[in-house]
Parts: sequence; structure tokens; C-alpha cells
Amino acid sequence: MTTATLDPRALRDAFGSFMTGVTVVTANDASGRPIGFTANSFASVSIDPPLLLVCLAKTSRNFATMTAAKGFGVNVLSEKQMTVSNTFAKPVEDRFAAVEWKNGPHGAPILAGVSAWFDCSTNEIVDAGDHAILIGRVEAFENGAMAGLGFARGSYITPGLSSKAVSAAAEGMPLIAAVVERDGAVLLISEADGRWRLPQMELRGGEPLAALQDYLTGATGLAVEVGFLYSVYDNKATGHQHIVYRAVAEPGETKAGRFVPIADLPLDAMDNSATADLLRRFAAESALGNFGVYVGDEKQGKVHPYARKA
Ligand SMILES: Cc1cc2nc3c(=O)[nH]c(=O)nc-3n(C[C@H](O)[C@H](O)[C@H](O)COP(=O)(O)O)c2cc1C
Repeated sequence: MTTATLDPRALRDAFGSFMTGVTVVTANDASGRPIGFTANSFASVSIDPPLLLVCLAKTSRNFATMTAAKGFGVNVLSEKQMTVSNTFAKPVEDRFAAVEWKNGPHGAPILAGVSAWFDCSTNEIVDAGDHAILIGRVEAFENGAMAGLGFARGSYITPGLSSKAVSAAAEGMPLIAAVVERDGAVLLISEADGRWRLPQMELRGGEPLAALQDYLTGATGLAVEVGFLYSVYDNKATGHQHIVYRAVAEPGETKAGRFVPIADLPLDAMDNSATADLLRRFAAESALGNFGVYVGDEKQGKVHPYARKA
């Protein structure tokens, strides 16, 4: 595509192919009230002097305040902070009401639980098309140990949680399953004894996501898009490791199983109690629009907060 035929939407999508982290850029307005917005345009610039940059859209409601502030903070979000990213990207009345924060040594609001933060003085503001480039001089910073949240092609990526799944895969021959959703219904496969299970396969090496995508498409004859990781657990009773993803199927007749509305899921007739527990959680989270990632065994584990449904 040349500049003569350049389609802004296509350009935005092409820019979005570049995988980034996610930050929340903060400052205080003239009355000391915290402001902030989600930004993935962060880049490190210079070590000596210590400089970084972030691009701010001129359409931002905070443009005047942000560019007038004596400094700003860059909070690098950890992979458990997807909801924080969403809060600071949406027109929420008080974005700071939902997070723990305090002012940093140079005065910019610093959020709790971030991977790293940089408290900066404003070094320079460069006018750049429909954005301004805020160049900050790092006055103070802290680098934590949390894995960072990733972002590419409009979706979040959680490298730490995903690698947990992959290292589980490396330790044995895990079962990879999916909660395949379509229009408020979940794909279940019937077993000979009248029980139901999720579509699943044994992973015999290779990359779990790609293998699952191929398996689901082949088994159902539908276009199936595999998305976020949903659960990683060891079933001590069977000795199997389970890795479960969420997936979405396109319309059409499925060759395998059937789509059962979430409200009618046969939780008492699932292949085992771990699948029933997983679907019970899925039903509850679907109603709320908030999903977590479960990491544990078949009886106990932790649900890490994850994504908010659009
Ligand atoms: C992952 C992600 C990255 C974003 N990156 C930027 C960015 O770099 N610069 C920007 O101006 N807006 C960015 N946005 C959009 C702003 O966060 C969003 O428009 C926000 O509502 C602006 O808030 P404000 O108008 O209150 O400043 C991003 C949004 C998301 C979800």
C-alpha cells in the first residue's frame, strides 16, 4: 500500500502487529488530582541522560493537563493488570478509585503491583501529527519482578502465565482442552456412558495453541479461534496435566458434540468434578464478564484476574 492509497484503519492494524508492553501514564492536574491513561507507545530513549518517551493523542481528554504538568509517571503493567489497562483506556469517571496508588518521589502517581515504574520530569514535548511525543527524564524508578503484560493485534498477551502452561506441557503428555463458546453456548462432547466432556486432545509435543486450533477446526469442521488461557491444573487422581483455553467458534453445524447454552450446562453429568468446577466458574464469570486463569490442581488452586469482556 502506498501513501496515495493509504487506509488509516489498515495502517493502525499494521502498527498493531508490533508486540508491545502496556503502561499507564499518570500525572497530577493543577489541583493535585491524579490523571492517567493506558499507553503502549512507551519506548526507552537514552541512558545518559536517562530519557524515555510516550505518545499522547491530541484527542485525549487529558491532553492539556498532561502537557502542562511538570512531569509524568510511566507504570509498566504486570500481566495480572489487564483490568487496570481496561480501566485507564475507558471513559471511567474516577480511574484511580479502582487501584491502589501513591505519589512517587518526583510526584507522579505510581500504581501498586506494576512490573516497573518511572517517575519523570517533562524534558521535552514534540509535536507529531495527531499525537505529541512526551519525552521524560527519569528522576526515580523501581523495577519489580513481575512479568509484564503484553499487547499485540488488539489482544493482551500474558507471557508468564502462558509459559507456565508450556512448562507443564514439557513435563508430561498433557491434555489440552477448550471451552469453545458461541452465542452464550459451550461445545460439549458426549461420551459412551452418557457423560459430557470438553473437546480435548493429547499434546504430543509442539506448541499447544497451534495444535489445539488444528484439532478443534478438524473435529468440528468450523472455523475456531483459540484465545486466552483459562486453566492449568494437575489432576492427581488421573495423573494428567490439563491445559484449558477459551475459544470462539464461527456459525455452522458442528461435526462433533453440540453447543449447550451456558444456563443448561449438565454440571452433574460431566466426565469429572474438575470439568464441572471449571464450567461452573465459566458460567459465573460469563455472567459477570470477568474471566480469570486458574492455576492449581483438580481440588485447589488460585484464580488470577484476567480479562474483562468487551
Ligand atoms: C493497550 C492500549 C494502548 C494504548 N496506547 C495509547 C497511547 O500510546 N497513546 C494514547 O494517546 N492513547 C493510547 N491508548 C488509548 C487511551 O488509553 C484511551 O484513548 C484513553 O481513553 C485516553 O483517555 P483520556 O482521554 O482520558 O486521556 C491505548 C489504549 C490501549 C487499550
